[in-house]
Amino acid sequence: MELLIYALASLALRAYAEPVSPAEVKLYFEENLSQGSEAYLPEDSGYAEKIIPRWNSLGPPKYVVAVKPATAVDVLQVIEYASNQSIPFLGTGGGHGYTITTSGVANAVDIDLGLFTSVTVDALKNTLTIGGAVTFGEILDPLYEAGKEIRS
Ligand SMILES: *[C@@H]1O[C@H](CO)[C@@H](O)[C@H](O)[C@H]1NC(C)=O
Ligand SMILES: *[C@@H]1O[C@H](CO)[C@@H](O)[C@H](O)[C@H]1NC(C)=O
Repeated sequence: MELLIYALASLALRAYAEPVSPAEVKLYFEENLSQGSEAYLPEDSGYAEKIIPRWNSLGPPKYVVAVKPATAVDVLQVIEYASNQSIPFLGTGGGHGYTITTSGVANAVDIDLGLFTSVTVDALKNTLTIGGAVTFGEILDPLYEAGKEIRS
């Protein structure tokens, strides 16, 4: 009897701790993020075309799922879900970020911010608000048109 209880308890524990598969993570994103969001496994046909590649291939992070959230609320939900499931994640903007620690990121979710491309200049408040995937070259024209400039 004791053995049976022990066996059942360890089974239950194992079931509880079972990590979700990349396919399940992708499905969660497809079903639960807002319309316009996209999710890919690295072997999916759209992956190479739709997901921002990493410019520096030295010690790259290893992703099992890439997600392109459509709204800021989607980004929050991705982070909350990944945290709940103990899945590491990293955001990708332009793809040029440099650090020597990315090789420590494995079995992770790539939060591709490629749908966040807005550039807004408020000339009166002297502020520039940009989406997570905006690169430096994309802010120069809007700034110039607003009569502003920025140091490089
Ligand atoms: C979508 O979210 C709901 C609520 O959290 C959850 O019950 C459902 O399983 C999710 N869909 C998938 C495919 O995981
Ligand atoms: C994360 O876990 C909390 C606590 O169990 C739950 O309330 C919340 O709905 C979960 N969020 C997601 C996005 O899975």
